[in-house]
Amino acid sequence: MATPWARKSIAALQKEAAVGPSEPRGETHALGLRRSLSAFDLVLLGVGAIIGAGIFILTGHAAATNAGPAITLSFVLGAVACGLAGLCYAEMASTVPVAGSAYTYAYATMGELVAWAIGWDLVLEYALGATAVAIGWSGYAVGFLNGLGITVPAAFAGAPLDYDPALRSWSATGAVLNLPAMLVVTAITALLVIGIHQSARINNVIVVIKVAIVLIFIAVAAPYLSTANWVTPANPAGFFIPPGADTGQFGWSGVLRGAAVVFFAYIGFDAVSTAAQEARNPQRDMPIGVLGSLAVCTFLYVAVGFVLTGIVPYDQLEVPDPIAVGITAIGIRWLTVLIELAVVSGLTSVILVLLLGQSRVFYSMAHDRLLPPRAAAVHPKFRTPYLVTIGTGAVVALLAGLLPIGLVGELVSIGTLFAFTVVCLGVLVLRRRQPELVRPFRTPAVYLVAPAGIVANLLLMAGLPLDTWIRFLVWMAIGFVIYALYGARRSRVAQQARAASAAS
Ligand code: ALA
Repeated sequence: MATPWARKSIAALQKEAAVGPSEPRGETHALGLRRSLSAFDLVLLGVGAIIGAGIFILTGHAAATNAGPAITLSFVLGAVACGLAGLCYAEMASTVPVAGSAYTYAYATMGELVAWAIGWDLVLEYALGATAVAIGWSGYAVGFLNGLGITVPAAFAGAPLDYDPALRSWSATGAVLNLPAMLVVTAITALLVIGIHQSARINNVIVVIKVAIVLIFIAVAAPYLSTANWVTPANPAGFFIPPGADTGQFGWSGVLRGAAVVFFAYIGFDAVSTAAQEARNPQRDMPIGVLGSLAVCTFLYVAVGFVLTGIVPYDQLEVPDPIAVGITAIGIRWLTVLIELAVVSGLTSVILVLLLGQSRVFYSMAHDRLLPPRAAAVHPKFRTPYLVTIGTGAVVALLAGLLPIGLVGELVSIGTLFAFTVVCLGVLVLRRRQPELVRPFRTPAVYLVAPAGIVANLLLMAGLPLDTWIRFLVWMAIGFVIYALYGARRSRVAQQARAASAAS
């Protein structure tokens, strides 16, 4: 019997998570994952997933073609959209602290079919996000090695085909495989299998390095700030928001389009909530992890956007390494090496946390038997869901070795925005259905915040190109077919429903 609208009970989920401050530290709960993450680890996990390709690579493009110096405002708008969703995530993650994040929240509020759809959709955010960032990592690492006199053969440094999203055209690159991208994914997968504690420690070290370097950049570059850099041939009066028609190129429409582009930079704060079952005190610490990481990154992004467009005219920033261009403009060469280090290490932690998120979502789906239950096996020694972790790593490594970055970037954003929208909706549904539920964190002004979150995320989705929408819909359609053929019949909830009807 298919049960597409059957919901999981919150009480059962809370029991399943076996959460509570009384549980001993570092213990493993019933499902076998190890509880070892503190609030501080969770904030760093979020920052680890957030600061990456978005700020280090996309900022330049968005400033040069969409917003100019007002990229600072685009970052503020992006933070508002994510902050609204973040407040909803915080309530859900504190109330239902189980590993699957948006997938589990949807199961508890809107039923199995929506849950499956979100789980399937999250593959775009996590697995494809990790793929996109691994491809970016490879580009930077190859350049970094080149600087050290080590040449990676071009045949093994890129995908065989390139895709230009603006022209919608494919071209052969002459390369065979993106080997560095595959290697970094493989190494991180091995780390994730070995342990959540070890993974978090390495993430913490990387995050401290990248945040420190970003702060050094802001401090060193700030004295060179000059509004003279706002002046360009297209903006002779040096306006903060360069004048533009209604086409997403400068003016207010450019600020909005810029927000959609840099939205990618904020992706990842929600990955914190996928680790709920590995947190020591999830009810208290989940909101701290989600909102804390978002706050830290918002501050850094707004500051970097302001400083960067204040030290170099924005029309010079249409480059793959905008921060390095800024540094060259102020002539502080030693900082260039540090920035390269920040980029390579920063992208590494993004891949780490996104792969972690993906394996936890699959783990929950397999536990619910929407995916083969064997996939939820936990390693007896490492206490990690090793089979899904290895499977995810293998597929992501393959994709990162073969796909061009132009194809995947916006698909990651649309998938994430969809998940955010459903979580905002889920909070409202749960408030109506179970107002009495104990909520350690309550979204403030929820009847304002959640609908505003839905509208903001849908608006950002609407701004994405038609091609991206088509790919997104095709991906979701494939998911529904798989659900009909597999999950609808085998899910735990469906089996329970069958057993109940047989008994009656
Ligand atoms: N926010 C992550 C990044 O910018 C995905 O790389």
